[in-house]
Amino acid sequence: MAARSGVLDVFVVGSCMMDLVSFTPRLPRPGETIHGNRFITGFGGKGANQCVQASRLGATTAILAKVGQDNFGESYIKNLKENNVNTDFVSQTDGVSTGVAQITVDEEGQNSIVIVAGANLFLRPEDVGRLEEALVSSKVLVCQLEVRPETTARALRFARRHGVKTILNPAPATEDMDPELYDLADILCVNETEAEILAKQPVRNVEEAETVALSFLKHGCQAAIITLGPSGCVVAHNGDPTPHHVPSRSVQVIDTTGAGDSFVGALAFYLARRPDLELVEIARRACMVAAVSVTARGTQSSYPYRSSLPDVLF
Ligand code: RIB
Repeated sequence: MAARSGVLDVFVVGSCMMDLVSFTPRLPRPGETIHGNRFITGFGGKGANQCVQASRLGATTAILAKVGQDNFGESYIKNLKENNVNTDFVSQTDGVSTGVAQITVDEEGQNSIVIVAGANLFLRPEDVGRLEEALVSSKVLVCQLEVRPETTARALRFARRHGVKTILNPAPATEDMDPELYDLADILCVNETEAEILAKQPVRNVEEAETVALSFLKHGCQAAIITLGPSGCVVAHNGDPTPHHVPSRSVQVIDTTGAGDSFVGALAFYLARRPDLELVEIARRACMVAAVSVTARGTQSSYPYRSSLPDVLF
């Protein structure tokens, strides 16, 4: 599928990872070996996850990404195509493996993740230059931090210059994130753990999340969303002094891996396709989509399609 002018709802500049997932009764302690009871591989990486979720909801999508010249890379590109993601800007890099994520999921559905970014780190700022035409014709750009931060910054700067809406999911979060990234984000979206790292203060409940969301606005983003797992999310935006708590419906949790990416992908979909909706309503609908994703195992394998969701969400 070629990127034609005016047709892309969502452009992602980000990562592709193969997820290697072990299911265990609990997360192991340092130095401990435990028995797991199930192992699966799946398609992951925050960038691709968000892109695939937006696509499954009906957005036209493309991703700028790098995978290795290996079996994982081949099957990853096939997976993107099967999800109707434009792969014109996905390339295979020689001499480096496709990114992998070692994921452990416990009986409560909570996870811990180690990534080895591999080919993702070969995505360089100059690669962003190759897609300027496609990016200009997109409605929303979505970025994360599993690729080089300078690549993310270049994409966001370019989008900002051309009036493309930007969503930044600064994950994995680091305490020393480049402050320019706040300025370049129309919407900054993080989970509670990432919010704590960025803000260097605890986010243990809705009130603390509201305080931290407001502090992110002072750093320069137009809006800040902090996702809170079963407690939904908190939304703060410029021009409104009161942050909003958006509750989530309660579901039977099987695996929370990638739920935040499902949320961000849905956010991008609604921003592109339903710009008439208030941000709080967009967040409410994105919570509904992400809630479905925690009811099944795996990352992209758990993401809902538009056809399986109620019409009122669209
Ligand atoms: O956010 C979940 C994702 O984080 C996983 O798919 C894994 O690949 C890591 O990127």
